[in-house]
Amino acid sequence: MLLLVALVMVCTCTVVAAEEAENTSHKPPLHYSSLALPQHHIPYFLHSNKRVARLCREDPLCPFKDALLDVSSCWGYEKNCAPENRFGYPVCTKIDSGWASSVEAAQELFWKQADFGYVMERLSEMKTLCKATNPGDSSLKCSSHTRFCRATNLYLDLRNPRRGHERYKEDFLQEGEIGGRCSLNSRALAAEGEHKSPLQSWYAELQAYTELDFNPTDEEHCDIIIEKPTVFMKLDAGVNMYHHFCDFVNLYISQHINNSFSRDINILMWDTSFNGYGDLFSETWKAFSDYDIIHLKTFDTKRVCFKDSVFSLLPRMRYGLFYNTPLISDCYSEGMFRAFSQHVLYRLSVPQDGPMEGRIRVTLLARSTDYRKILNQQELINALKTVPLLEVRVVDYKYKDVPFLEQLSITHSSDIFIGIHGAGLTHLLFLPDWAVIFELYNCQDESCYRDLARLRGIRYVTWQKRDKVLPEDKGHHPTLGDHPKFTNYSFDVEEFMRLVLEAADYVLHHPKWQPLPSRDELESLTQPSRPTQPSRPTQPSRPTQTKVYLSSDNKEKSNGLGKLRVPATIFLVREQYMCYTYTPYNKFIFLLHAATGGCRNDRLFTF
Ligand SMILES: *[C@@H]1O[C@H](CO)[C@@H](O)[C@H](O)[C@H]1NC(C)=O
Ligand SMILES: *[C@@H]1O[C@H](CO)[C@@H](O)[C@H](O)[C@H]1NC(C)=O
Ligand SMILES: *[C@@H]1O[C@H](CO)[C@@H](O)[C@H](O)[C@H]1NC(C)=O
Repeated sequence: MLLLVALVMVCTCTVVAAEEAENTSHKPPLHYSSLALPQHHIPYFLHSNKRVARLCREDPLCPFKDALLDVSSCWGYEKNCAPENRFGYPVCTKIDSGWASSVEAAQELFWKQADFGYVMERLSEMKTLCKATNPGDSSLKCSSHTRFCRATNLYLDLRNPRRGHERYKEDFLQEGEIGGRCSLNSRALAAEGEHKSPLQSWYAELQAYTELDFNPTDEEHCDIIIEKPTVFMKLDAGVNMYHHFCDFVNLYISQHINNSFSRDINILMWDTSFNGYGDLFSETWKAFSDYDIIHLKTFDTKRVCFKDSVFSLLPRMRYGLFYNTPLISDCYSEGMFRAFSQHVLYRLSVPQDGPMEGRIRVTLLARSTDYRKILNQQELINALKTVPLLEVRVVDYKYKDVPFLEQLSITHSSDIFIGIHGAGLTHLLFLPDWAVIFELYNCQDESCYRDLARLRGIRYVTWQKRDKVLPEDKGHHPTLGDHPKFTNYSFDVEEFMRLVLEAADYVLHHPKWQPLPSRDELESLTQPSRPTQPSRPTQPSRPTQTKVYLSSDNKEKSNGLGKLRVPATIFLVREQYMCYTYTPYNKFIFLLHAATGGCRNDRLFTF
């Protein structure tokens, strides 16, 4: 046994040695794979990382040669970025006169509110509050109201921490406990204090920043010197996806401001309490750091010095992103939030298993809470399942049953995502670009997920007909009395199907919906009875619907429909018509092939 182990070890060593010998001739100047960016983000990255671009140009084996050919692409906030080369730019369909007087002004405004223009605004605000005079000195630079900062050689004295029950104590640090050796502009710092509030700015932490007469990176003044770049974060809520993704989005935006996406960084959670942190989405951190998140209390009783640190944008800033942000209406963008989604999905290796020819993947998010349940959920699912085009999946995203990465995989491979108002709808950030988010009912909170969908740039649909949704009762808010978010609902099936099929039609017409080869079963459905001369009207505007009536000659086969005339709707899908109807007998009739504006299926129904 021992001998065997020894042998194996010898063999392994030999192999490694041989490979190493082979590769001595070429040593890449950069660890390319550590960039870990989606391939189509690389030209944007190289645009403002000239050193990496140069090294790649000089290295014949650099894997980004294609990206080097694309020299003009830029995110949009760079100084030399031509508007036509931007990653994305908002589209506005109407002018919201309260905000803007022209479509151009509206687009520009949305770009600054919610797209890469937001990064440009923060960059333009950057001010040096503590200035280095000699090499190796400290420095502190911040955007307005100290909402984003970068500090070098930062000193933090946690020898006597004033820890309590509050997560964000505003007097946690006193004069001399935070600072650096640099020339401090106290008046400029004091002028940034207007947004002093835990999740709105870093002012409470930085107001005590002190000009020191020693270099914080000298060993005699520091118990721990942290060389690795460190991002300080104050988190909103680890148990709620909507709120927690405000944390992650702001981290991503901060990385754009600092122009660095390396995962070889520490993330330090600023928290002045003794408490730990419940985090149901902790897998997401892996998109940003190779290491576990560090709680501030880890450093209690020590003097810690950070060579390089960033104070991240915060989740509840005034006009920040994306919690409760007022946004100009009738605009959407496929910019910064799409980049965020791609970045996270790429780094977490979430696959896209589609789209599929002839199949629309519908995911219905169920809830297992005591309110906002879909009372007739089974009826809705049964209705969906009568339409062969729809591949229906019902999920209950409980983190104990479905790990978060698996949730993301399901979401990302959905073409239509349906759910009633709730934080789970934040999943819309990770839907494919051609997808539709259908907020079954918004419970009179109209802007929350509609706006998130506008930020992400995907289609949003919600229930319109108030007479076709039935609340169980008036709702019971724990303190506020009647409340539409605190009851259950049932939905009119026909109206539900109308909305889903409209969404399906949108998906099928989306330019990015490029399906993979079709499935056998659909082939077999489409082959018989192809009209010899299919009449193809010129591409009509969307949604392509015509009201028709179906009836059957065959009482037996048609579930007793008999000679009844049943209203139906025709959808044009690619080159074929699809008809559907919802009959009083709770059955859907799905027909392919139609000629001259009518639906025909010789096996079942005729006009
Ligand atoms: C050696 O280099 C070649 C290309 O130069 C690469 O394909 C191979 O994976 C490398 N082997 C090792 C062990 O790094
Ligand atoms: C911020 O950017 C600088 C300059 O590119 C980089 O050296 C540093 O590591 C970055 N800091 C963080 C925390 O990522
Ligand atoms: C909603 O449904 C849940 C589960 O069926 C139930 O426990 C709860 O009492 C219902 N809420 C209301 C307001 O009826």
